[in-house]
Amino acid sequence: MTHIDDRTLTSSGFYLSQEAPIQSDNPIPTPSSPAPDILRCAYMELVVTDLAASREFYVDVLGLTVTEEDDEVVYLRSLEEFIHHNLVLRKGSVAAVAAFSYRVRTPADLDRAAAFYTELGCRVERRKEGFVKGIGDSVRVEDPLGFPYEFFYEVDHVERLAWRYDLYTPGALVRLDHFNQVTPDVPRAVRHYQDLGFRVTEDIQDSDGVVYAAWMRRKPTVHDTAMTGGDGPRMHHVAFATHEKHNILAICDKLGALRRSDVIERGPGRHGVSNAFYLYLRDPDGHRVEIYTQDYYTGDPDNPVVTWDVHDNQRRDWWGTPVVPSWYTEASLVLDLDGNPQPVVARTDASEMAVTIGADGFSYTRRDNEDTPERKQGEYKLGHQL
Ligand SMILES: [Fe+2]
Repeated sequence: MTHIDDRTLTSSGFYLSQEAPIQSDNPIPTPSSPAPDILRCAYMELVVTDLAASREFYVDVLGLTVTEEDDEVVYLRSLEEFIHHNLVLRKGSVAAVAAFSYRVRTPADLDRAAAFYTELGCRVERRKEGFVKGIGDSVRVEDPLGFPYEFFYEVDHVERLAWRYDLYTPGALVRLDHFNQVTPDVPRAVRHYQDLGFRVTEDIQDSDGVVYAAWMRRKPTVHDTAMTGGDGPRMHHVAFATHEKHNILAICDKLGALRRSDVIERGPGRHGVSNAFYLYLRDPDGHRVEIYTQDYYTGDPDNPVVTWDVHDNQRRDWWGTPVVPSWYTEASLVLDLDGNPQPVVARTDASEMAVTIGADGFSYTRRDNEDTPERKQGEYKLGHQL
């Protein structure tokens, strides 16, 4: 681990270090059983309260492809996907997340997953026939942080529609990119997911070492999942990738044309963290969906870790656009393996919103802050909103 004082300040205004400068004083034990070899985030199972409304949003508005459906469940995939689905919409009474699902490298990795979580004392359920259509032998767990995690290898292959340009819309979603999880103790979560084989690519901290968020990857992009500090366990968002920035602008234009601009929660913009272009939407149940494109390659073993100062108002948006409060405070419940919502535990560390937004918050564009105009001091001053 790199000490925060040993980081290197770059000309872009963030810090670099070789090892993530994050240490937990309350770690979950590291199992002696080896972790499963995770390839990538593969799909999310969402419980939705109005299946027709959700189908309309994800299929008719966002353009995901229906692989299979019935009166209870819709299975959707992105244009470049060759596995059965990237998103499952299941009709239910409480809007929530039933599974964050990862594909593993071999069938034997399911044995490793079961042993890893059994050693941690977690509830583990394995179904040879899978929990959903299109997926074979699967392990689902209630992980030590309360998240419903799934691992699978066997899957039905479907046609990869990447060459079917006749099916593309201007805002075409081409891949599932990542999950984002809300958890009270980010260093504890990071340590656990490092044990599971994830590597930190970027994080947000203050000068006292309080960690507000961290991005973690298996595939060689900025992340497969991220930890956002807050009351949890909850799901912050699920993200789909487009090819280019203009695809995201086309989604905004379409939502405007449909008189559904209220679906847009934040953006479009350019992230500081990840360097990606982004847009955040809310689905009919309030589940947050990010549209994301053009982050960077992270696959080398010595990929440098980027650390942002929580007071740098370009960390969440490179152009300094304010982050709306709902983005910090609202998130989706997650379910246990019986389908009941997991209790939400409050974050006790400082809140990113409190330290950066409004009258009590402090943020800067330039580090010395002396010539930042008053209207831009604090990234979301309510008095400055029309
Ligand atoms: Fe994201």
